[in-house]
Amino acid sequence: MDKAQQDALKKAAGIEAAKLVTSGMVAGLGTGSTVRFLVDELGRRVKEEGLDFTGVTTSRRTQEQAESYGIRIVNIDDVDHIDLTIDGADEVDKNFNGIKGGGAALLWEKIVAINSSKIVWIVDESKVVDTIGAFPLPVEVIPFGAGHVIKKFEAKGYKPVLRLDAEGQPVRTDENNYVVDLHLGRIEHPEDLAQDLITTVGVVEHGLFLNMVDKVIVGDPNGPRVMTNSNK
Ligand code: A5P
Repeated sequence: MDKAQQDALKKAAGIEAAKLVTSGMVAGLGTGSTVRFLVDELGRRVKEEGLDFTGVTTSRRTQEQAESYGIRIVNIDDVDHIDLTIDGADEVDKNFNGIKGGGAALLWEKIVAINSSKIVWIVDESKVVDTIGAFPLPVEVIPFGAGHVIKKFEAKGYKPVLRLDAEGQPVRTDENNYVVDLHLGRIEHPEDLAQDLITTVGVVEHGLFLNMVDKVIVGDPNGPRVMTNSNK
């Protein structure tokens, strides 16, 4: 699939998901190239249809895009609930275990997700996999002592790589932390891995989102299809 085809599928999933947002809702808005299409469509609906909702964003990037359309964005601590969060994902399997954080927004994404009544992901079909792990697993790490955390990951065979920007500097998250990507290939026991990562001192959060999502809208050449998680 070339990038134009993939973008068309992402856009179709984003437009489909935008239908789930209704006036009066508090909606969590994720991060990434698929969510950009979602926010474009929500911006169109705000302008052309008078859609009136409140948004909580998972990154400053999404906040800027949403506000450019006149969407009202508030701080997560200024709402007592989030009705629905729509976000992208890097991989998802049939057990609704996913990897997120390719765009370095995993910490805010997880905070918004766990405070949401419903979670919907929008992906193109290439992201639906049998076993997660081919996509490098992002882990957000405090800069102080990050080198030692990376050595511990190396010793465990996690194949860590500190994420760098185009200038060769460590990528910084919205919380000013580093991202370490683990090149695992296959993650056979995601719960065990999640437990190991989150109990490593210096790790703030990891990109394993296990059985958190309610529905996945998959951009498919035959039109968007929905995977529903009945085990949540
Ligand atoms: C942001 O940190 C990520 O979790 C994104 O949601 C994920 O990487 C999907 O991004 P794309 O829609 O750009 O593929």
